Amino acid sequence: MVNWKWGKKADMYQVRHKFPKDFMWGGAFAANQAEGAWDIDGKGPSIADYHIGGLPDKYLNKREDATIENQRENFILNEGFNYPKQRGVDFYHHYKEDMALMAEMGLRCLRISIAWSRIFPKGDEQNPNESGLKFYDDLFDEMLKYGIAPIVTISHYEMPVHLVLKYNGWHSRCMIDFYIKYCEVIFHRYSSKVKYWIPFNQINLLSFNTLGFLKDPDKNELTMMFQAVHHQFITQALSKKIAHKYRNDLLIGTMLSDKTAYPATCKPEDILFATLKNKMQYFFSDVAMNGYYPPYAFRYFEENGVSLKFAAEDELLLKQYKMDFLSFSYYYTQTADASENSYSLRDYSKNPYLMASDWGWTIDAIGLRTVLNIYNDRYHCPLFIAENGFGAVDVLEADGSVHDHYRISYLREHFKQMKEAIRDGVDLIGYTVWSPIDIVSCGTSEMKKRYGMIYVDLDDFGNGSNKRYRKESFHWYKEVIASNGEYL
Ligand code: BG6
Repeated sequence: MVNWKWGKKADMYQVRHKFPKDFMWGGAFAANQAEGAWDIDGKGPSIADYHIGGLPDKYLNKREDATIENQRENFILNEGFNYPKQRGVDFYHHYKEDMALMAEMGLRCLRISIAWSRIFPKGDEQNPNESGLKFYDDLFDEMLKYGIAPIVTISHYEMPVHLVLKYNGWHSRCMIDFYIKYCEVIFHRYSSKVKYWIPFNQINLLSFNTLGFLKDPDKNELTMMFQAVHHQFITQALSKKIAHKYRNDLLIGTMLSDKTAYPATCKPEDILFATLKNKMQYFFSDVAMNGYYPPYAFRYFEENGVSLKFAAEDELLLKQYKMDFLSFSYYYTQTADASENSYSLRDYSKNPYLMASDWGWTIDAIGLRTVLNIYNDRYHCPLFIAENGFGAVDVLEADGSVHDHYRISYLREHFKQMKEAIRDGVDLIGYTVWSPIDIVSCGTSEMKKRYGMIYVDLDDFGNGSNKRYRKESFHWYKEVIASNGEYL
């Protein structure tokens, strides 16, 4: 297994021109987008299992009027509908074949997530589901057999549905207890196999996927969101406390979805707006890495009618259990125009200098160097790129090849900028491409938005042979890893 020193700083007085020799080149994907097998071996339904995203939903029996009752019923009205995440790419049954391919690519680490509802099908049981635990035991053994270090996201957009319907997800403080119990079980079981843990995928993306609460039309939605994320901050801190009961050197990192915004122009209004908008993104890592709520957040809360409940122990917990590293996903940058946009991460303007993918995601390799520098200067901590990749429509040729040169050129440009950031002195320790294998898209639930280096023959409706094929990028990434980033 790869062994690298966590938090190793660049040699003093020397510019580092190459990737560190123990750089963690790897891949990443989430249980709910890959595993399938959504209702077998005791697994309970998770919220991701009922996600349809951008697929046509004209047959979906959805109640639009957003009363809490209707939102509840939406979960159960649509049995039998096409929910791609319920089948994923059946990694659950193909993991041995898939791990062999990833080992052939030379991955040094793999970031996966554990499906919470495989371990606790409803989320509030006394005892875990042994079959679910065994699956991950076998999976970690398979990774370690090839020297691939597991990095585990504990919750990646897929809490048990029952926790939403009965407790209203993270809006309720009792979620902390359910999650910590889940942590106790998985740390106890896997701490000898897994050293690196990320409690929440993209903690700054405030959505139903991450927070799992049903909106109450009578309550301030922002208050509900920030209250829910406060519970996650406390949980994140507690998870570090619990982890150390099992193994002192477990490392717990927070994760952001980087959506750093450029000012639309050099007008002072735009500069200020982009600065403040970015601060409200870094708020989530500020709390996790610095161990307290930054003062600027309280101004934002005051001006947006957000009022939060804190428990007496919260302040100390955040301070005592700061995160060990910062990981983030990087797909695109945003542009902030003071006269057009709001602070929401989803509200931004077009950048006329950048091309975009078929899904409108800007392609901005230089931006990666910029944000690496920003995080480095802000936290002076080890940085890990937990996700980055290019979603595109790929064509499987009759001879089984896939010529995804566009993906190679996207990645090549990003790797060049990572190298530049290392020259800038950034302590970048790893990179996991999203994704080594095709999986169901998170946002749109499509198969046709492919990120993989291994093609999976399945379409949006589950038609296809489910066979795996090596894409051109598979061979290219293998060379990159073998040369430790010298061959680009
Ligand atoms: C990240 C998520 O935000 O983006 C992943 O953590 C997701 O789960 C990835 O797959 C790409 O998004 P999408 O919607 O193109 O799959």
